Amino acid sequence: MTRARLALVATAVAAIFAGALAGMLWFGDTDRSASVSEGGVPAIGGPFALVDQNGETRTAKDFRGQYMLVYFGYTYCPDVCPTTLQDMVQALDMLGARAKRVTPVFITVDPARDTPEHLRQYAAQFSPRLVALTGSRKAIAEAAKAYHVYYAKSGEGDDYLMDHSSFIYLMGPDGRYVAHFAHGISPAKMARRIESFISGS
Ligand code: NI
Repeated sequence: MTRARLALVATAVAAIFAGALAGMLWFGDTDRSASVSEGGVPAIGGPFALVDQNGETRTAKDFRGQYMLVYFGYTYCPDVCPTTLQDMVQALDMLGARAKRVTPVFITVDPARDTPEHLRQYAAQFSPRLVALTGSRKAIAEAAKAYHVYYAKSGEGDDYLMDHSSFIYLMGPDGRYVAHFAHGISPAKMARRIESFISGS
C-alpha cells in the first residue's frame, strides 16, 4: 500500500471505531460493549451544578484534584443500579488507602423522586464516601448530556421505571475523561483498571 492509501485506511478505521464507541455509550444498558475502553473517545464529562444528599450545591470544579468514579442511575432501580454501586464501592475498598484519590459519585436520572433527603438514606447504604447528586430536571439533563448518558421514563403512575445507560466513568483530577467500564465488570477487575490509571499519574 502506498503511504497515502495507508493514511486513508487508518483514518477510515479510526472513524469506524469512534462511531462504534459513540453507539456503545448511547445504548449502554444493553451492555453490548467491551468492559473497558480508553483513548480516542469524544469528549465525555463537563461542568455540572447539582445538589448533594446534604443539600449542598456541588459543581464539577469541586472535584478537581480528585479522580471521580461516576455513575448515573436512580434509587428506585430494582437491580442494575444497586448492584453497580455496590461493585464500585467494593472496587474502591480493594484499593485500600489509594482509594482516597477517587470519589464515587452517583447522579440520579430521576430527580422527581430522588430528593436530597431520599438520596441521603440511599447513599448511606453503600458508603459514607458516596456523593449522591440530584437537581432540577434541566440540570440533570445537562449533566447526562455531558456524559453521553441516555435516560427515559418508562411506565405511568408512581411506580414508573427509568431506562438508562449504565456505564461507570473514571474522570481524572483535571476533570477529563479517563476510562469507562460497563456495569457487570467485576469489582476486582475495576479495581485493577482504576489502579493502573491512578498509579501512572
Ligand atoms: Ni438502574
